[in-house]
Amino acid sequence: MAQGLSLLMAASFDSALTAPAVARNRDPILAVLREVLAAPGTVLEIASGSGEHAVHFASALPQLVWQPTDPDAQARRSIAAHAAQARLPNLLPPLELDAAAAVWPVTQADAVVSINMIHIAPWAAAEGLLAGAARLLPAGSPLYLYGPYREHGRHTAPSNAAFDESLRARDPAWACVTSTRSWRSPRGTGLRYSVPSRCRRTT
Ligand SMILES: C[S@@+](CC[C@H](N)C(=O)[O-])C[C@H]1O[C@@H](n2cnc3c(N)ncnc32)[C@H](O)[C@@H]1O
Repeated sequence: MAQGLSLLMAASFDSALTAPAVARNRDPILAVLREVLAAPGTVLEIASGSGEHAVHFASALPQLVWQPTDPDAQARRSIAAHAAQARLPNLLPPLELDAAAAVWPVTQADAVVSINMIHIAPWAAAEGLLAGAARLLPAGSPLYLYGPYREHGRHTAPSNAAFDESLRARDPAWACVTSTRSWRSPRGTGLRYSVPSRCRRTT
């Protein structure tokens, strides 16, 4: 029995994926989340990918309950593998969630977070994310997005311009979108665009 269990755990850990960008961006993102997600509550993460962000943020922000999700089964296995290793009481098992779906498998959250998703998915996923967050979130609650954006239609770095080209070459439906200020959010969502103070440019 014990041997069977350890084999199961080994198989499960093999599912754990590593996304190199996470090690670079997780602490700058965490610094902003400390500001944006100061109050206790449940955070719904859309497109959790490997699950490394979920573990890092749930560990650093114990006042929050973290709900990871991803539409991809391999990603969900990876999230579960990282979570099994981390054993955090405030990290929930991953759910299957496609942001573009009209109905989400979650009915309550105090914040929605999505990192590096909307540029690498059809635009319907971005629209679905806005609509879903608006359906779910109480007034004044944050939808926090992180990713490579254009500001006023212009790339903010040459590397982002090259990345944009490579995205469009892989799938014409993918692209770095222009900053959310100019998004046409679904009518009546009541969402309001703002930039966390930590992200504001001082020049
Ligand atoms: C570049 S990865 C980012 C993963 C993770 N957030 C990170 O930063 O490492 C993009 C993720 O978006 C997910 N994704 C793609 N289309 C989606 C959709 N329609 N709804 C929700 N997630 C989606 C993919 O399965 C993948 O896990």
